[in-house]
Amino acid sequence: MPCNSNRLRIKQIVVVCGLSLLASLGLCDRVVAQAPDPAGHSAAVTRSPLTDPAIEKRVDALLQKMTLEEKVGQLTQYSSGAPTGPSTGNADYPDMIARGEVGSLINLDSARAANLYQHIAVDKTRLHIPLLFGLDVIHGFRTTFPVPLALASTWDPSIVEKTARIAAQESSAAGVRWVFSPMVDIARDPRWGRIVEGAGEDPYLDSMMARAYVRGYQGTNLSDKESVAACVKHFVGYGAVEAGRDYNAAEISEHTLREVYLPPFSAAIREGSASLMSSFNTINGLPATANPFTLTQILRKEWEFPGLVVSDWSSVGELVAHGIARDKGVAAQKAMSAGVDMDMVSDSYHQHLADLVKSGKVSQARLDAAVRDVLRVKFALGLFDHPFTDESREIQGALPREHVEAARQAAERSFVLLKNSMAGSRPILPLTGESGTIALIGPLADSSQNMLGPWAGRGRPEDVVTLKTALEQRVGTEKIRFARGGEVQTASDAEIQTAVAAAQQADVVLLALGEEAATQSGEAASRAHLNLPGRQEELLEKVTATGKPVVLLLFSGRPLTLHWAFEHVPAIVAAWFPGIQAGPALVRVLFGDVPPSGKLVVSWPRTMGQIPLYYNALNTGRPAGDFDLTRPPKTSLEKYVSRYVDEQNSPQFPFGFGLSYSSPEYSRTHVDSAKLSASDSAIHATASASVRNTGNRAVDEIVQLYVRLTGTSMEEPVRKLVGFKRISLAPGESQTVSFPLGAEDFSLWDIRNKLSVEPSHVQIWISPDSSRGVPAELEIVE
Ligand code: BGC
Repeated sequence: MPCNSNRLRIKQIVVVCGLSLLASLGLCDRVVAQAPDPAGHSAAVTRSPLTDPAIEKRVDALLQKMTLEEKVGQLTQYSSGAPTGPSTGNADYPDMIARGEVGSLINLDSARAANLYQHIAVDKTRLHIPLLFGLDVIHGFRTTFPVPLALASTWDPSIVEKTARIAAQESSAAGVRWVFSPMVDIARDPRWGRIVEGAGEDPYLDSMMARAYVRGYQGTNLSDKESVAACVKHFVGYGAVEAGRDYNAAEISEHTLREVYLPPFSAAIREGSASLMSSFNTINGLPATANPFTLTQILRKEWEFPGLVVSDWSSVGELVAHGIARDKGVAAQKAMSAGVDMDMVSDSYHQHLADLVKSGKVSQARLDAAVRDVLRVKFALGLFDHPFTDESREIQGALPREHVEAARQAAERSFVLLKNSMAGSRPILPLTGESGTIALIGPLADSSQNMLGPWAGRGRPEDVVTLKTALEQRVGTEKIRFARGGEVQTASDAEIQTAVAAAQQADVVLLALGEEAATQSGEAASRAHLNLPGRQEELLEKVTATGKPVVLLLFSGRPLTLHWAFEHVPAIVAAWFPGIQAGPALVRVLFGDVPPSGKLVVSWPRTMGQIPLYYNALNTGRPAGDFDLTRPPKTSLEKYVSRYVDEQNSPQFPFGFGLSYSSPEYSRTHVDSAKLSASDSAIHATASASVRNTGNRAVDEIVQLYVRLTGTSMEEPVRKLVGFKRISLAPGESQTVSFPLGAEDFSLWDIRNKLSVEPSHVQIWISPDSSRGVPAELEIVE
């Protein structure tokens, strides 16, 4: 059973603040213990494949032989293939490679093409340094898994690791030894299209997922021909772009940066991620690609990251548009000095870096450090010893069965059942053999391309089994009335009428609606309206008005604010973009072969005006508490609290929420200690609760552990996730779920911006989501 088994126990707690300056200023008058690294809060690499002394020796020897131009070449990357950003056109890569002017190519995706270029690099250059081929393998290479937001909704790091391993095998077979994943940007704003690429709003869950991806990609041996280097991205704060508009600026205090945005990066690095990508956005006025505080102070000095830092697409050159560089020369100088080793496609390093070094504007030491970072990764991947890819490894025909099964399993666990009302004496779902005629309606019921989702690697529509195909296989075509009801963005009156007629003739309706993957989700796909595009809401309302039991299957890369639907449609499933096994996975869940078990990793807003909305918020000095927020305030007590006069504060569905076909019931949370000492070197307690399946169907339940700390030097969130476990319960079965709690769970970034355990009052919940449960309490004393 997968669980958060990677939680590190903290051995040493050092008292650091008793006599500190802050204490003498009266800002911190208590004993404060400094907690070493919890699940991804600070860093220091623990498992890097790049810290091998034998590799370092080879790097040294090679570096000594390199000319300035050859060094710059290693720091230069171009795209050859379909561009994944504003294209600057293809240069004459073969000649440049032969001259040693290129260190890496991206967007190639076949072993043949990779070998062709690799032969030029290895055979024709003076030092025979191999190229490194990179690609955006975000949720699979050809076997396309559910989008990352959906994968995170499984709360199952083991399945995520498995998908990443398969992606590594398939990518490496195509010559790609470097994947631009995991994307670990915390996202609190569903307007941002790239929310689909990450693990949602929670630093702890995101950290667990980040580690799983890195383990899967890099395996236990990076030089294995089936392993690929991970690239954790986008460093940092990209998920906080203002108003959810892609590439926009971000304002993030150092405290919030450390508490919220940095942990998944440090977790990935601790797991050994060989590389990292800087982001497009500014952080507090300074572009992330020219930011010495994040790229050097935090990444290199605090975390001791030994890997390769690549810019994002053209983000070095974009320093000119940001207005902090008058030309690409200054851009190159700033990015390089801040800590970006490799320039992705902007040509700035290629054009200017040699001169910058000659004139002393970039130091020789900085140049050498960057080149080392690149060579270290190439050596660790074994590229110097085995630069070519065996072309026979590439999958030519059908996908291997175990890859397809992993895709189905991941999808099954990713669906979140949001609503399941009664139809007569039983809930609408699961469907049964007696469900009768099914109207299958909607533009996404039979759309292979959309099921792949955005950033679908080299996924092929022909590998997708749609809902229509899978349903036909399950119940036979004669029991299905299919009507597309138009396209995602357009529909005619006739198409809507035909769909309504199909619903009228059926016993139950499955409505497959949502976003268009390629244009409405992912990069450069921020939305200012989180509705169902085109005429789909009209279709939904008309079909629901037939009075037939309707199951809405929502395919999207983000939560959508569908207030009417949540009020009126009897059953709703968030299906995200499920990948190649969309149909079989959905059918198995809809018919109850497997229980729905995904839970939300983002708070689902009621309306746009609530955004940004996230569960781990601060309490404020005027919390709305138990006031009835469904109506405008009547008294001054109700009025002067942190609330809206025209909407509730709470989300439509909270973080962690998801229904099943059964009802798990939680006991009160119990904690085995009432008091812990902050200065104790082995601070720990155990929290437990029993969970009972009171229904008559099996359930896979994601049990969540939250804490709240009060009495601390900085205000802490009203709840924060510190653990979770996925358990299976047969009908009537009950299990006691226990979580060890240690310093990492009680730690916070304190008033000095140090990670510490402070004397505090702790509330602890073991609960089915972030909004329920009665907490147990304990005190952390000096
Ligand atoms: C994206 C990155 C991606 C890169 C290379 C950029 O536009 O922001 O996530 O890895 O392109 O394709």
